[in-house]
Amino acid sequence: MNFELSIDRESPFQPGKPVSPYYFKGRHSSIQKILRYYNNACDRDVQHFFLTGKKGIGKTSLAEFVKQYLEDNKNALGIYVSNKGQNSLEALVTSIFEAFLNNVEKSFFERGFESLFGKLESIEFKGAKIHFKPDEETSRDLVASFHYILNELVGEFDDKDCIFLIIDDINGLSQQEEFVNWYKRFADTIEVDDSFDLPLYILFAGYPEKFDNLVLQDLSFGRIFHHEEITNLEDSDVCQFFVNAFDSVGMTCQNDALDLLVLFSQGSPLMMQHIGDAVFWQADGEIITKETAAMGILTAANELGIKQIRPDLNRIESKHYLNILLKLGKHQIYSFQKNELEQYLSEEE
Ligand SMILES: Nc1ncnc2c1ncn2[C@@H]1O[C@H](COP(=O)(O)OP(=O)(O)O)[C@@H](O)[C@H]1O
Ligand SMILES: [Mg+2]
Repeated sequence: MNFELSIDRESPFQPGKPVSPYYFKGRHSSIQKILRYYNNACDRDVQHFFLTGKKGIGKTSLAEFVKQYLEDNKNALGIYVSNKGQNSLEALVTSIFEAFLNNVEKSFFERGFESLFGKLESIEFKGAKIHFKPDEETSRDLVASFHYILNELVGEFDDKDCIFLIIDDINGLSQQEEFVNWYKRFADTIEVDDSFDLPLYILFAGYPEKFDNLVLQDLSFGRIFHHEEITNLEDSDVCQFFVNAFDSVGMTCQNDALDLLVLFSQGSPLMMQHIGDAVFWQADGEIITKETAAMGILTAANELGIKQIRPDLNRIESKHYLNILLKLGKHQIYSFQKNELEQYLSEEE
């Protein structure tokens, strides 16, 4: 082998992963807004928050950041539940209980909890992790008795001031009236029934249009929640991010390079992470020049193109779609309603 291979370097960038709190930038007012209701939750006035934003904008990162903050600075227990790829209430409730079971003390399992969770076999211990797989019938029962079981579980953490429960990627449930009705009933019950005395803060995260869908099903669902929509980061946050991330591995950006990185990131955290990563691997010294930055941006653009855009292009790669696209170009139509386009298209198209 006449070239050198190196596996010693480690990128500080995290494209496609929620950012670790150390590299987290911006979002001060959103963080503040979530924290505003924390004391109410500690006082057993359960709080419900809905965080919205498009894919890759940083919902999971923000939720995790607040969770970490509360765990480090307040006496809170953070519990994270992902509902990604799930579209049933049973699956959601199972995931929530599984997350709680992974946080309770071992002694909980010695105190005969079977009655709570149906059959004992549905709880599997795999190393340090607990898997909860109730059968169909049990799952349905768990949905019905969710608030009672939750009450019991929350009681297991009476050394904490509050439980901060993140339910991420709620998107799959957004069409479901069943979910809306169930959650409303849950929120109502714990509000009016004195036997529920929960220091609990629930934060959902999902796409804006999914939240709208849910509210559309029942306006009073929307009234349960505090809400915040996150959009692009400020350029100054993006700039700070690059300076700190490169600094953490002993690298520095020249000013014109930094300007380029900020410009092409366009405030998108996902873009910024991809660009940073590509530039990191492109650079062969401690100083990042404008040329290195430009090369990195091109690489990142290509990679993002392959991951995010090509699958869509492939899907529309048929003769008909091509014809339609060419006609759009010919008539210089950049956005359109279907009926405006129809005059240019053949029957088949
Ligand atoms: N505030 C932030 N500072 C730095 N990087 C961020 C920030 N928010 C998000 N990111 C990065 O952006 C990408 C998308 O973030 P993520 O939280 O997964 O978005 P979402 O959950 O909205 O899809 C990830 O690579 C993550 O590391
Ligand atoms: Mg996410």
